[in-house]
Amino acid sequence: MIELFSWDTLYFWYIARATGILAFILFTIVVSLGLLMTSRALLKWKFLTMPQTLKLHNTLAILALVLVFIHAGALVFDEVMHLTVAEIFIPFLSNKNFQDISNLGVNVGFAIGLGTVAMYLAIVLVITSVLRGKIFSIKLWRLLHYTSFLAYITFVIHGYFAGSDSKYWWMKAIYIGSVILITSLVSLRIFGKKCFINSLSQGSSTPYK
Ligand code: HEM
Repeated sequence: MIELFSWDTLYFWYIARATGILAFILFTIVVSLGLLMTSRALLKWKFLTMPQTLKLHNTLAILALVLVFIHAGALVFDEVMHLTVAEIFIPFLSNKNFQDISNLGVNVGFAIGLGTVAMYLAIVLVITSVLRGKIFSIKLWRLLHYTSFLAYITFVIHGYFAGSDSKYWWMKAIYIGSVILITSLVSLRIFGKKCFINSLSQGSSTPYK
C-alpha cells in the first residue's frame, strides 16, 4: 500500500510526458482557433461567437502554458532526464549526452533546448495577448503574434525529437494530425482570403455577435 503511494521518481517522468503531450494538443487547438477566428464559416456556424472564440483561444493558451511549467518542473525531479533548474531556463546549456535515452537515434540535447525556446515564445505570446490594448498596442501585439508560427514549429520539432513516445503510432498520429491541420489552415488563410473577414473588430460588429 505504502509503495503504491510512494512518489517514485519515475512518476515525475510520467507527469512530464503526459503534460508535454497535453500542452502540445492544447497549443494545436489554440493555433487552430487563432487561424479560424476571422473565418466567415465560423461566424455563419453561430456555435461560437467571435468574442467567445477569442476568450477560448486565450484561456486555452494560458492553460497550455501552465501545463508547460508543470512539464518542465517535473523534469527536474525525475531520474530519467534529471535536468537542473538552469538547464530548464537557459536553452542549450546542457552538455549531458542523451544519446542512450533517444529512441530516434539522435542526441536529444538540442531538441530539449528548443523546448526552452518554445516556452519563452509562449510566455511572450500569452503576456502580450492578455495585455493587448493595455500595455501593448494592437500593432505591437500583431507583430509579436506572428512568432506563434515559429513557436509552433519549435515545439513540434522539440516534442518529436525529445519525446520518449515518438516511437509509438499514436504519438506519431498526434504529430502528423497536428501538422496537417495547421498547414491546411495556414494555406486556407493564404490562398482563400475570401473565406475570412478583414479584422476582429469587423467580426464583432456582425449580427452573429
Ligand atoms: C511550449 C513548450 C513545450 C511544449 C509544447 C512541449 C511539449 C513536449 C512534448 C509533446 C514532448 C513529448 C512527450 C512524449 O513523447 O512523451 C516533450 C518532451 C520533452 N520535453 Fe517538452 N515541451 C515544451 C517545453 C519544454 C521545456 C521548457 C523543457 C525543459 C527544458 C522541456 C523538456 C522536455 C524533455 C526533456 C522531454 C523528453 C521527455 C520524455 O519523453 O522522455 N520541454 N515536450
